[in-house]
Amino acid sequence: MQRLRETLSLQGLPSELQQLILTLADCGVEISQLVRGGALAGVLGVADSENVQGETQKKLDIIANDLIKDKLGANPLVKGIASEEETDVVAANTDGQYLVCFDPLDGSSNIDINSLVGTIFSVLPAPQGEVNEAAFMQPGTNQPCACYILYGPATVMALTTGQGTQMYSLDPASNEFVLVDEQVTVPAQTGEFAINMSNQRFWQAPMQDYIADLISGKEGPRGRNFNMRWIAAMVGDVHRVLSRGGLFTYPQDTKNPDKPFKLRLMYEANPMSFLVEQAGGKASTGYERIMAIEPEQIHQRVAVILGSADEVDTCLGYHSKG
Ligand code: AHG
Ligand code: MN
Ligand code: MN
Ligand code: MN
Repeated sequence: MQRLRETLSLQGLPSELQQLILTLADCGVEISQLVRGGALAGVLGVADSENVQGETQKKLDIIANDLIKDKLGANPLVKGIASEEETDVVAANTDGQYLVCFDPLDGSSNIDINSLVGTIFSVLPAPQGEVNEAAFMQPGTNQPCACYILYGPATVMALTTGQGTQMYSLDPASNEFVLVDEQVTVPAQTGEFAINMSNQRFWQAPMQDYIADLISGKEGPRGRNFNMRWIAAMVGDVHRVLSRGGLFTYPQDTKNPDKPFKLRLMYEANPMSFLVEQAGGKASTGYERIMAIEPEQIHQRVAVILGSADEVDTCLGYHSKG
């Protein structure tokens, strides 16, 4: 049985990064306890506020955000933070060497139905000088570390520091993350896809054509049947992809003309892409590698297509046609 701190030390990571990861894990342990408390912990339901994303905040969005903000602020290694639930980036410790972007509670609409939710972290090196939005404008390839904590029947953490992707499970007796898979591997091929089908009429032509071919099954051009899953929490869908392969996408759509993309680059797309790529999968917008995007805004949104490498390539083929 190898605990998180032991694995990190065996990986030979800088001690500062090890310390930071233990703080991220600690946030996960505390949020996990709150999620488990459910109605009894008073964490369910909506708050009377809207975030910068234009979404009504759930109580747990705010509770998780404040908890992480406090914990990261108390770690001198953290120079600044950016969160889905914060309008602006926040300066923390002047001498810190890391910036942390996070989605405190992914899958907010699942909270009140007792379904999967999680927390996503992306770490970036802190440049010299002031903590402002410009300091965060770094591509995903700069991430020394990304992880998510999924609050499911078991609380699990997927972590990458660029040495493959590791999976940990939270031991409820000791409240420690224990290594359960030292090299997560996403199979290159799959028979499973994840997309919100209710948006079908709003997709662009390449995604329309790709999904139409998948659901035409054995009789269609793919010559086999595909199965569909949609958890409505990226963290749950990506966890399934890491566990058994699959293709997950939230494509561009015209449902809301002001918001052609749903998922956020800095809090969702980049960290998940790093985890998936390190497990042998691929992550693209349809036209470029997600981790190569030079960000322009902290709350920027992108199209996401990620998962089993061959299936992502097949989907990209539809995007490069004429
Ligand atoms: P969040 O709860 O952090 O705002 O993110 C929700 C995201 C993502 O987790 C999920 O894949 C997607 O929204 C679900 O969207 P639909 O409600 O359109 O299915
Ligand atoms: Mn949200
Ligand atoms: Mn999210
Ligand atoms: Mn969220």
